Amino acid sequence: MDYVVEMLNIRKEFPGIVANDNITLQVKKGEIHALLGENGAGKSTLMNVLFGLYQPEKGEIRVNEEPVKITDPNVANDLGIGMVHQHFMLVEPFTVTQNIILGSEPTKFGKINLKEAEKKVQELSDRYGLRVDAKAKISDISVGMQQRVEILKTLYRGAEVLIFDEPTAVLTPQEITELMEIMHSLTAEGKSIILITHKLKEIMEISERCTVIRKGKGIDTLNVADTNVTELASLMVGRNVSFKTDKTPAEPKETVLKIQNLKVRDKRKVDMVKGMDLEVRAGEIVGVAGVDGNGQSELVEAITGLQKSESGTIQFNHKDITNLSPRKVTESGVGHIPQDRHKYGLVLDFTIGENMVLQTYYQKPYSKYKTLNYKEIYQKAEGLIDEYDVRTPSVYTKARALSGGNQQKAIIGREIDRSPDLLIAAQPTRGLDVGAIEFIHHRLIEERDKGKAVLLISFELDEILDLSDRIAVMFDGKNVAEVKPEETDENELGLLMAGSTKEKAGDQQ
Ligand SMILES: Nc1ncnc2c1ncn2[C@@H]1O[C@H](COP(=O)(O)OP(=O)(O)OP(=O)(O)O)[C@@H](O)[C@H]1O
Ligand SMILES: [Mg+2]
Repeated sequence: MDYVVEMLNIRKEFPGIVANDNITLQVKKGEIHALLGENGAGKSTLMNVLFGLYQPEKGEIRVNEEPVKITDPNVANDLGIGMVHQHFMLVEPFTVTQNIILGSEPTKFGKINLKEAEKKVQELSDRYGLRVDAKAKISDISVGMQQRVEILKTLYRGAEVLIFDEPTAVLTPQEITELMEIMHSLTAEGKSIILITHKLKEIMEISERCTVIRKGKGIDTLNVADTNVTELASLMVGRNVSFKTDKTPAEPKETVLKIQNLKVRDKRKVDMVKGMDLEVRAGEIVGVAGVDGNGQSELVEAITGLQKSESGTIQFNHKDITNLSPRKVTESGVGHIPQDRHKYGLVLDFTIGENMVLQTYYQKPYSKYKTLNYKEIYQKAEGLIDEYDVRTPSVYTKARALSGGNQQKAIIGREIDRSPDLLIAAQPTRGLDVGAIEFIHHRLIEERDKGKAVLLISFELDEILDLSDRIAVMFDGKNVAEVKPEETDENELGLLMAGSTKEKAGDQQ
């Protein structure tokens, strides 16, 4: 058979858990092979084994039918295997090219030959339609571009098999379409792709075959043409999943959050929020729809105190909270599920238990006489981990060792549990499996029904339409239109998000 990569009967254990239990994955040349499984099923682990980051306890790997030992990522590179990780691994102050050549710098008379490398990087970028600027600094380019740098890095090293670990989780719909085109241009050149994604529609759209794993075990490998979204969902979580959330009409009460004429600059002093008005009332979910980069992140940072506002006011429960410190904002009753879970959500080298009290550790009962009361902390954590189905060997495991989706569930649990009057949920279900999404959506609606105000920021229009009671469209730093989910659809929203007015968007329907 023409398999480029075979992973046969792979077993990989971590303390207290078997992450991969006798899993087999066989990839054909030129195919896009999806790897599907719930959060913590063992997908990233399996790919880290293939990339040489972990050594399996059992099993065999074959590349082009030859048994191989992939002892580290350099060996993987030499065998033509490249990986685009779930959480990027780029050096921010370096340029695109510097990042790409890191570890395999071309030299000339003992000096790094950057010019030569830049030329090669630019050529590769053009060949696969990546449109990356080889000289740009990583900290200056978008997340979508950073991902392309990761792709280029693998191509630069001669990858024939590319592993993508949840590449679309951090992308906007537009960027996803472009990534799909890039993937097609890669397979057209004979490269093979292993794609991890939780978005079943993407699997149906782009991949030829799909291997499903559950709780560390291989379940099945299917031809995508012979299956459907419902079957895939139930294979991966072991039960039927509903994609639509049931909810009663909202009964909004008093105004909880009132934003008036708010102006915020980003870290580079560029105006991003340019006169924003927005109200969220108790007992309603307000969704903010918008193309990435229209000020949503800065809006959230301003409300939560992570970024100073230039002018305008933010009122919360009739008090002015403009430019308060993050701790003061939190203490006044605002919860925040941040869009970047590693930067703002967790301290990765703390245990998952410690992470559950990041905002409350100095309060009773978690601190007493200025000493942490670990018994109380871990008891709290045990409860949350149970309630939110955070899959971890124990509460003492470092947050870093949890799977991406389980890190996300832990943050959501912590934020909802503090029962804030206002919950700001930025891309809350990013990286979650379909079963976990269903659960979290229910929990958000429950908060609403308890009379809490929820501000939802999401690039997933499905999610915005499904959950929101009211949708505010953010364009160029302003709230340009408010619509009701039952009176709009993805098309109209798309037009509004692109800057069209409501009248025009209505006409084009
Ligand atoms: N370095 C590690 N040390 C200890 N346990 C780990 C480590 N890496 C992963 N695990 C555990 O192995 C299991 C599988 O994790 P993995 O990251 O492979 O899941 P995943 O399928 O990629 O999930 P997700 O969809 O959430 O990313 C999890 O229970 C996780 O906690
Ligand atoms: Mg993963």
